[in-house]
Amino acid sequence: MNEVKFIRNFCIIAHIDHGKSTLADRFLEITDTVSKREMKHGQMLDMMDLEQERGITIKLQPVRMNYTYKGQKYILNLIDTPGHADFTYEVSRSLEACEGAILIVDATQGIEAQTLANCYMAINSDLVLVPVLNKIDLPSADVETCAKDIENVLGIPKEEIIAISAKEGTNVEKVLEAVIERMPPPKKEEEGSETKALIFDSVYDSYRGVVSYVRVVSGSLKRGDKIYLLHNKRELEVLEVGYFKPKFVTADILETGGVGYVVSGLKNVAEARVGDTIWKPGTKGFDVNEAVPLAGYKEVKPYVFASIFCVDGDDFPLLRDALQRLQLSDSALSFEPEQSGALGHGFRCGFLGLLHLDIVQERLEREYSLNLIVTAPSVSYVAVKKTGEEEFIANPSDLPDPASILAIKEPWVDVEVVTPKEYVGAIMKMTLDKRGLNKSMQYIDENRVLLKYEVPLASIVLDYFDNLKSLSSGYASMNYEYLEYREGNLVKLDILVAGTKVDALSSIVHKDEAYYIGSALTKKLKELIPRSQFEIVIQAAIGSKVIARESLSALRKDVTAKLYGGDRTRKDKLLKKQKEGKKRMKKVGKIDLPQEAFMAILKR
Ligand code: GTP
Repeated sequence: MNEVKFIRNFCIIAHIDHGKSTLADRFLEITDTVSKREMKHGQMLDMMDLEQERGITIKLQPVRMNYTYKGQKYILNLIDTPGHADFTYEVSRSLEACEGAILIVDATQGIEAQTLANCYMAINSDLVLVPVLNKIDLPSADVETCAKDIENVLGIPKEEIIAISAKEGTNVEKVLEAVIERMPPPKKEEEGSETKALIFDSVYDSYRGVVSYVRVVSGSLKRGDKIYLLHNKRELEVLEVGYFKPKFVTADILETGGVGYVVSGLKNVAEARVGDTIWKPGTKGFDVNEAVPLAGYKEVKPYVFASIFCVDGDDFPLLRDALQRLQLSDSALSFEPEQSGALGHGFRCGFLGLLHLDIVQERLEREYSLNLIVTAPSVSYVAVKKTGEEEFIANPSDLPDPASILAIKEPWVDVEVVTPKEYVGAIMKMTLDKRGLNKSMQYIDENRVLLKYEVPLASIVLDYFDNLKSLSSGYASMNYEYLEYREGNLVKLDILVAGTKVDALSSIVHKDEAYYIGSALTKKLKELIPRSQFEIVIQAAIGSKVIARESLSALRKDVTAKLYGGDRTRKDKLLKKQKEGKKRMKKVGKIDLPQEAFMAILKR
């Protein structure tokens, strides 16, 4: 039996690019968990291709390391966490699986918005923090200033900070020693107590089915055990347990305080949701009906929606299969069939945020070779009907008749921005223009400021982040977290092309912005829609009231007109090229609409 006092469970929290994966790679080398040869392009823990290409961590990948310190063998369980705001709930659950966290701050950048958000979460979960300043090999590293900031803003004494270079390995071993010295071991259990294990992630493996990543809080789990999922209310049998190296390694038993995986024959990750509790009675006898699940369980709801259609209508069944398969490993992805007059059959899909949408789109196109049209993302709304009933609206075109509704509510988020002080004025103005409310402003040091706002999620989804980056020459960082649904002065804006309503282009907008948005959209569409042999009218309307109108004059475009005589193959080539150009288009009535037209809403 592994004695609990020689186990440490910890994670690494950091702002994007501050060096989390690089440090994890050094740990794997020092502890001989993974040989240098196995370190494919470095970054062993970012396993998905997509992650390696983009250099970001999307999925958590835990690993067990063995490390001998002062003659004593320790088991170090490292749980890597995604740094992006879309996955806040997953981060919160993996923090719950740990006793401590290494906080990395890039010594050339200082504290950023995500450093703060993740750090507060870790402090709230009572984790012991080991602060680390990374990249000291770079000439622009300013250890002194960054250390002062960490002390001032986070209240962590400067003396505790370890200055390292994850890239070159400098002082990395000191960090492992601090993990052992400063972080507490997991709590010991009472004799015969019931088993409780927290699911902090679930993945789908084509060979094993659902593999749940767990932290055993009390008791133990082994093959053949009868277990219960307390939230899902399912009774299951354990088929396999094991730990991570970081590949799956089968084990006989998972004991209190340990981190590992459990296979129980489930076929869909939605059945073993992150945050659920695996439970087994203890020897003293407990009743499953009286079992208390571990705190903090939440079913994450998508806030960002987009419709996905196939360029080639015949691919629809393939799209359905692909989404179903992706959902096996991604319980946050939701989708419902949608029928659009303009675009045919497709799916209305729900995501945790824009990055999540991006990942799903890219995987569909890459892993399933689908040629897709993805509509501009929008947020979900709640329509309050005159009957008092509330209806969840995932698609603006589903909004009930305006006469039947009392109000429309939209999601709001808490936003934190960290910026050099010279950009504060511009960021404040931009945020106000985006209907944001100022909450507070605090100096981190002489040069940098922390701004707190409440902003409608719709503004964030639109272009808040891009604006922030361009206003601050890339120096500001932000983080946001869901707050609540709030009533707004909102209306539905429809777009009509040649008299046909293009439902995929409908949006819900703030009334004050409707005229501006309507006219910007019709102008943009005029640029994007190719001319045709007849005049095309483009209109924006609220209900039956047209608020903006553009018209596109007729033109016959013959790409081969300039080719007199010559070789037939040249002409064929040009026609083929023109045909390919049309692939990303959809027919609306008699008109071809290019994919850009659907993204136009995003770039209004
Ligand atoms: P996400 O996965 O996106 O959250 O990023 P991350 O925090 O895992 O950062 P990552 O380890 O991918 O490092 C980001 C970049 O910084 C990479 O180009 C690394 O090579 C570089 N880097 C990391 N540590 C050091 C260091 O100590 N010195 C120098 N010079 N570069 C480093």
